[in-house]
Amino acid sequence: MLMKKIAVLTSGGDSQGMNAAIYAVVRMALDNGLEVVGIEDGYQGLIAGSVVPMNAKSVDGIIHRGGTVLRTSRCLAMKTDEGQNKAYKTLVDNNIDGLVVIGGDGSFQGAKILATKFGVLTMGIPGTIDNDLAYTDFTLGFDSAVNAVMQTIKMLRDTMSCNERSCVVEVMGRNCGDIALHAGITSAAEMIIVPEVRCSFEEVVARLKYNLEHGKKDNIVVLAEGAGKAVEMEAKLKQALPINLRSMVVGHLQRGGDASYADRLLGVRMGEHAVQCLLDGKTSRVVGIRHDVIIDEDIVEALSKRKSFDLNLYNLANRLVNSY
Ligand code: ADP
Ligand code: F6P
Repeated sequence: MLMKKIAVLTSGGDSQGMNAAIYAVVRMALDNGLEVVGIEDGYQGLIAGSVVPMNAKSVDGIIHRGGTVLRTSRCLAMKTDEGQNKAYKTLVDNNIDGLVVIGGDGSFQGAKILATKFGVLTMGIPGTIDNDLAYTDFTLGFDSAVNAVMQTIKMLRDTMSCNERSCVVEVMGRNCGDIALHAGITSAAEMIIVPEVRCSFEEVVARLKYNLEHGKKDNIVVLAEGAGKAVEMEAKLKQALPINLRSMVVGHLQRGGDASYADRLLGVRMGEHAVQCLLDGKTSRVVGIRHDVIIDEDIVEALSKRKSFDLNLYNLANRLVNSY
């Protein structure tokens, strides 16, 4: 099919780097002589028909910005036949030949349905801070989120240290411990707790007890949200140990702020690749990066893969702080 007009949308949890990808999709589409439109508010806008024309100017000055200029949503209706039919109708009514979906695994499920049920030519770009997609080494936003958590812990350490206080720091990631692991090791956190590796409460108590007894009073425990709640752990630890302790949830701050250099570059490279795939007649695929090479893979295959956890890095993180 000759590609004349493509659309781009962002869906699910926003992430830094989504704007860089939108920028590249729009500019590369135009550079290839395609018409390009944006769908606002993710699948909600696709169902409602919120289609806006995009030109070179629409993406001026957005490459660095967090969030997404097209806005995003979690849209339950996209999981229903009625919603999916409406979404497809918007594409047909607007003569859209190809669709680029920027989002996480949930958003990719929506893209998969549009591709398999209606034959829509779709490409996915992984935009989520969670880094929870198995087929790609990195997702857009992960690097920026890790940097935001590192910055937060750095600031926390100032006040925790001078009060000889410890702190449990809860970070995002859903069921994936990558943000906790990467921010934890690069912040020299005394403990990193992730859903992928079993760690009993007794082990946490034992480690903190050992540290306190050896003069380490300002411990940072990075807790992935998939492994527990900081406020609950704080309460339990205070019962179990004589410890000066606080807790904090980094929350949505780790999803905001400018995209890092890595996420901007990744967004641009992935955006370009998605457009090129559509032009080459490749479809129902998702873009990723492996060993610094931009790749594309069948969406069904990619979604069926199970993410593996970097145990070597996790073990290294532990060894670095074992010898206190
Ligand atoms: P993310 O894309 O970041 O993983 P979500 O899991 O919230 O975020 O998914 C984003 C949106 O993708 C959902 O709100 C919904 O509109 C759509 N979606 C998720 N799962 C499915 C599904 N199984 N079928 C159709 N659409 C889905
Ligand atoms: O998937 C991205 C993410 O930020 C997760 O890390 C987190 O659990 C969730 O979204 C938060 O969702 P919301 O923005 O709807 O509170």
